[in-house]
Amino acid sequence: MHAIILVGGRGTRLQPLTDTRPKPMLPILGRPFLEHQLEHLKRHGVTAVTFACGFLPSQIVSHFGEGESVGLKLTYVIEPQPLDTAGAIAFAARTLEPQRLLVCNGDVLTDMDITHLIAEHERLGAAATIALTPVEDPTRYGLVRTGERDAVLTFLEKPTLEEAGDDRYINAGTYVLEPEVIAMVPHGVRCNIEREVFPALVGKRLHAIGFDGYWNDIGTPGSYLQANIDLLDGADSWVDESARVHANATIGSGAVVGPGVVVGDGAIIERSVLLEHVVVGRGAYIADSIVGERAVVSDGQRIEHGDVVAPGSAPEPV
Ligand code: GDD
Ligand code: MG
Repeated sequence: MHAIILVGGRGTRLQPLTDTRPKPMLPILGRPFLEHQLEHLKRHGVTAVTFACGFLPSQIVSHFGEGESVGLKLTYVIEPQPLDTAGAIAFAARTLEPQRLLVCNGDVLTDMDITHLIAEHERLGAAATIALTPVEDPTRYGLVRTGERDAVLTFLEKPTLEEAGDDRYINAGTYVLEPEVIAMVPHGVRCNIEREVFPALVGKRLHAIGFDGYWNDIGTPGSYLQANIDLLDGADSWVDESARVHANATIGSGAVVGPGVVVGDGAIIERSVLLEHVVVGRGAYIADSIVGERAVVSDGQRIEHGDVVAPGSAPEPV
């Protein structure tokens, strides 16, 4: 199976972390998110992946190359300007032989059973099959209602709470698409799969299958932090072996400390991600926050309540 991963978004909600690298390259426990995603796809029989790139593509290309290290055949397509989700999928698909494709958003950490998704797509004879997951707040996502034989009745992107009513199943950002769906997308212009293509396919062999299990769109600071904590998988904290932590510092529960980080005497870190080469001064307190790479946290500074410290930022000179 060939997959297309959408990695061209600007990652606006994760700025300033995404000013210096594309969202899918942000590390989860020290490894780029995309490594986790590629491993998951590989476990479900994917052998080749085309990245639909836009913003900062070179970091992705130089990290993964042709895919030797991950054991997948990787190719890259770079849009001249952002074509939006459907436009990007079609732009990438047109570089391949027409075939059934798995399509994934490049920001969803999940253990979803993709093998089952593909089998259901086949059994239903669908043109497109969308994976669904239940969430507390559907307003951030694409709400999907299904009826008989898992046929999609409604696809409503970013609904209001009123529009969502009691429904909680949303588009999980993973699809199986037949070539006829790609053929619907106009060439070279922006086209959104959630607002244009899926609504137009309702009643026309568009199906959706629900999944329980782990699912997290890492696209906001809160969910990116949570993805790191969830992947601790029972461990209390995670510290890269190249980090230097002072003997009197406290690496508390949910602390994720990246490569090359230096933590000073008496500093306390809990439920937070410190990206590469952060320097934490003596007695600093960091909780429920994210510190961008190479940022300097001064002695005694408090960073808490969901702060996001910009990469490379340093304290004002006194
Ligand atoms: N190549 C390319 N070009 N990729 C793009 C573009 C573009 O113009 N615009 C967005 N993308 C990529 C993003 O990089 C991301 O991987 C994916 O498309 C989805 O964009 P997001 O910006 O993350 O969308 P969202 O999280 O608000 O909503 C989407 O995901 C939800 C699940 O996480 C929608 O698909 C929702 O329906 C869905 O519920
Ligand atoms: Mg997203």
